[in-house]
Amino acid sequence: MAQFTTHTGMVDILPGESEKWQFLEGLVREVARRFHFREIRTPIMEPTEMIARGVGQLTDIVSKEMFAFDRGDDHYVLRPEGTASVCRAYIQHRLDQRGGAQRLFYIGPMFRAERPQKGRQRQFHQFGAEILGSADPLADAEVIAFMAEVYRLAGIANTTLRINSVGDPESRQAYKEALVAYFKPFEAQLSEVSRTRLQNNPMRILDSKESEDQVLVTDAPSIIDYLNQDCLDHYSGVKAHLVALGIPFVEDHRLVRGLDYYTKTAFELTSTDLGSQDALGGGGRYDLLVEELGGQPTAAVGFASGMERFMIACEALEIGLGSEPKTDVYIACHGDKARFWAVMAAQELRSAGVSTLYDTSGRSVKAQMKEANREGAKWTIVVGESELEKGEFVLRNMQASEEQSLPFASIRSIVVPST
Ligand code: HAM
Repeated sequence: MAQFTTHTGMVDILPGESEKWQFLEGLVREVARRFHFREIRTPIMEPTEMIARGVGQLTDIVSKEMFAFDRGDDHYVLRPEGTASVCRAYIQHRLDQRGGAQRLFYIGPMFRAERPQKGRQRQFHQFGAEILGSADPLADAEVIAFMAEVYRLAGIANTTLRINSVGDPESRQAYKEALVAYFKPFEAQLSEVSRTRLQNNPMRILDSKESEDQVLVTDAPSIIDYLNQDCLDHYSGVKAHLVALGIPFVEDHRLVRGLDYYTKTAFELTSTDLGSQDALGGGGRYDLLVEELGGQPTAAVGFASGMERFMIACEALEIGLGSEPKTDVYIACHGDKARFWAVMAAQELRSAGVSTLYDTSGRSVKAQMKEANREGAKWTIVVGESELEKGEFVLRNMQASEEQSLPFASIRSIVVPST
């Protein structure tokens, strides 16, 4: 029979790995608690039209990487990112009426039909945070600080925070015209993708990885010269707050992002430990997105980070995350009667909070003891015919290799430290 495997770019997270994921999720939740962001969980599938409008028709994500299907008259898409969904939920549930800026975070799988490679999958995971309802540059610094804190706590160094302003529609229009005027004479030298972008999204040429484009990008006009006063002031404000927070950054006026909704601030955190997919996370301000999706004008800013890339960075830096769980007690038994007693004893211990394991496949005591070792049991309880007759069990301290016989009733008083 054919063997089934996962789809390309979709990965199982197995025991041994899943503990690391739990650790990272715990870290994100802890940082969210410290920064007082509340969790939002949105569906994995969203209306296709909403994502297309939110992320942008001309982006790679919408034009070629969507997992979308129809069912009756409904158009479903597996969400490629979380920001549009958060805005949709904000509008749908009138979160603006809760008062103040909404500080939301999320953790979950995202889907993009990209060509898989190291650090790039078709199902991947992000943690992210968004502040909706604040136009203040301090909100930008706040989400950047959230992101930076997760990596700092994990001990991931060697990171670079790059920041830029991509302006508002007014400044961007002027900049786009300048870019088209600059690239037009070199049109024939541009890569095919960049030639198309020259027509519909010239700023994305700056992001090109093609060497023929990169040569030309070096001398292209810089956005900073086209920002209006409002955008310049906002950008200065973000930088001042980052300095005050002690978060190092470099300014990169060629930084553009792969999603269309950004206004003003754009940023990316990169790492030299990742290889070609070097972005640990990124984000920016998106003051027009809520309105674009049908809500009231709402200034907003946020970031998202790739969790697989976090794992790759930890591996490269030999940072150990979490540890494999060990069982506190293993109950080894011989014979059916002893097994009944084991089940009841396990029930007692588990309800008292003690991690307890026993054999469920009728193996020999020797095999059970082997399993107790493999699962790192701190204590083993052994019950056989003779113990049953005496109404006792043998309690063995695995580390000290000491054992004692105890009456059945004392099972209730066994207190095993959980660490
Ligand atoms: P993004 O830059 O598209 O932004 O994705 C954020 C991060 O997700 C990337 O830096 C990368 O670490 C990870 N990532 C993206 N695609 C993949 C993939 N195919 N495989 C593995 N990891 C991947 C956003 O998604 C925006 N929603 C961020 C944001 C939030 N902007 C404002 N608020």
